[in-house]
Amino acid sequence: MQTDHKDPATIQTNRNMMAHPSQGGAHPLSAGPTNPQPYQDAYSGFTEYVLSINRPQYPSANEMYLKEQLRSLIDVEIVQRIQPSRVIPFGSLVNGFATANSDLDLCILDDSPNPRYKIKTELPEVLAAEFERYGFEVKLLTKTRIPIIKLVQGPTAQFPLGLAMDIGFENRLALHNTRLLATYSRIDSRLREMVLFVKHWAKVRGINSSYHGTLSSYGYVLTILHFLINVASPSCLPNLQHIGAQVPVPFEELECEGYNIWFFKDLTNIPPSLNRRSIGELMAEYFSYYAQFDFRNMVISIRTPGGLLTKTSKGWTQALDRVGPEDQKVRSRNFLCIEDPFEITHNVGRTVGKNGLYDIRGEYMRASKLTRARDPRVFRALCEQR
Ligand code: CTP
Ligand code: MG
Repeated sequence: MQTDHKDPATIQTNRNMMAHPSQGGAHPLSAGPTNPQPYQDAYSGFTEYVLSINRPQYPSANEMYLKEQLRSLIDVEIVQRIQPSRVIPFGSLVNGFATANSDLDLCILDDSPNPRYKIKTELPEVLAAEFERYGFEVKLLTKTRIPIIKLVQGPTAQFPLGLAMDIGFENRLALHNTRLLATYSRIDSRLREMVLFVKHWAKVRGINSSYHGTLSSYGYVLTILHFLINVASPSCLPNLQHIGAQVPVPFEELECEGYNIWFFKDLTNIPPSLNRRSIGELMAEYFSYYAQFDFRNMVISIRTPGGLLTKTSKGWTQALDRVGPEDQKVRSRNFLCIEDPFEITHNVGRTVGKNGLYDIRGEYMRASKLTRARDPRVFRALCEQR
């Protein structure tokens, strides 16, 4: 057996896949893995509905190409001029869950021993000023866990709806979790369809905004992974963090910033799932599972066998304040708890407030009820704008 010994930064090789459409074909991730047999069951109508929502959202090869061009411009023309560093894409454009108009998530890593500007304090400010000179709308967030530059480009001929970009500094763990999600997305094509649908549903129902007290897209992806690994029966996905390495692996594959980042990457040694349910049936089961989920006591933890821990065992029983990068108080709420697969002290659901949880639970209950009807006239209401 072979394991993949690549540096996390090799996820940037994905960008090389973003060939121009004229050079032949779509971004490989926009097609996703194929499953051998079509899934036929009483939920075919709902599966069709899910796909009819998803299809118009698949990013085109041209869009992927243009985003790569923009990444390259930011990398070569702006960042490298200021300070040699690596500008690596991550998030949905790399993990396979991008939709048309997804933002562009970039991470700046600086490996030089004597950098001109300090990467977490000085460089963000210098770069923010430089981006402004290039005509981007710029917002520098320094009170976040890692500094983030938010860039907005107004509508252009290439991006008629405009484009948002998040540039983070030294968030190496995000590169690893992107790679974990990318690996899962290559195992079973139903995962990607479920993610695209849930992202759309959560957006139109107003429960996909970490800035407004609900849950990030990343959080929803983790809820789906828990469902497909531990709840669907037979399971649709293995727990990649629980399959041991069969050959010695280098330290960089095992640890990052003090966290265990090991996961099994050799997809040729993963047998196809025995679960043949359709996307529609899995979606209906997903909604029904979370409509009844014990958010009050439980923590979703995809690295853990079984996928659940108690809030008590994590000490996540009440809101916690910690001191942020600028000595300010940062409040982590623990109404909805999802443990990050690697950074296990981090609750991905910490942005969800009391009202946010109320809304999220309410939407899961509504969705579960509507999908159970199995009647197109009823389930079409699922994605009505709220
Ligand atoms: N991320 C993280 N911890 C969080 C939120 C996000 O590590 N609490 C990282 C993950 O690597 C994630 C990336 O930031 O893949 C982008 O997060 P997000 O924008 O929520 O997800 P996307 O998959 O990029 O979704 P969208 O297409 O809606 O932008
Ligand atoms: Mg994103």
